[in-house]
Amino acid sequence: MSNTTPYVLVLYYSRSGATADMARQLAAGIESIVGIEARLRTVPPVSTTCEAVAPEIPDEGAVYVELDDLRNCSALALGSPTRFGNMAAPLKYFLDSTSSLWMNGALVDKPACAFTSTSSLHGGQESTLLTMLVPLLHHGMVYAGIPYSETALLSTQGGGTPYGASHLAGPRSDRSVDEHERALCVAQGKRLAKLAVALNAMRQGTS
Ligand SMILES: Cc1cc2nc3c(=O)[nH]c(=O)nc-3n(C[C@H](O)[C@H](O)[C@H](O)COP(=O)(O)O)c2cc1C
Repeated sequence: MSNTTPYVLVLYYSRSGATADMARQLAAGIESIVGIEARLRTVPPVSTTCEAVAPEIPDEGAVYVELDDLRNCSALALGSPTRFGNMAAPLKYFLDSTSSLWMNGALVDKPACAFTSTSSLHGGQESTLLTMLVPLLHHGMVYAGIPYSETALLSTQGGGTPYGASHLAGPRSDRSVDEHERALCVAQGKRLAKLAVALNAMRQGTS
């Protein structure tokens, strides 16, 4: 990836891998759009003793996000497992460190979306997605859901919502991302990438 190519930051936390799998599907959708790339990043876990030190590079998966990854992105796809109907603490912990970007308006007019994974079908996918959207609105981002023209929204028997992609992982976290859930992840990635290219041009005054 070159330093000058615009990118969508796909920032996620995942403990057992479901949200990480969704992140890769969104990235595939993003990478299918000309003129923009996907940058996958994660956050370290947090603990109640709180200052436990994580290795600088995670053992597997995406590397840890830095503030500059967020500052310089053209769009943000934010992914979290559902934790009691809300986003996971490690992601919120990172977002709580972004005041300098808020003060400088670094994310204003940039598009964003959210995605989540749950163990149970009615276990809070929508509430998680809607609450993940709140800090993004404070940052001035333009939130993009999934329109019903994506027909998988009507046929899914698992995850998939107009508020963002979602996945039903099952009580043992052993249910793979299914065909409809995957289609919605890819569609959401594509939509975000197209919006990123268009809003980039708008901010640069070329459209
Ligand atoms: C502390 C905690 C809270 C959870 N809360 C919920 C919940 O409210 N609803 C639900 O369906 N699943 C809940 N889960 C299950 C996870 O959301 C689910 O296993 C998810 O698919 C994990 O994603 P990952 O594989 O990316 O870590 C919870 C899990 C943990 C550890």
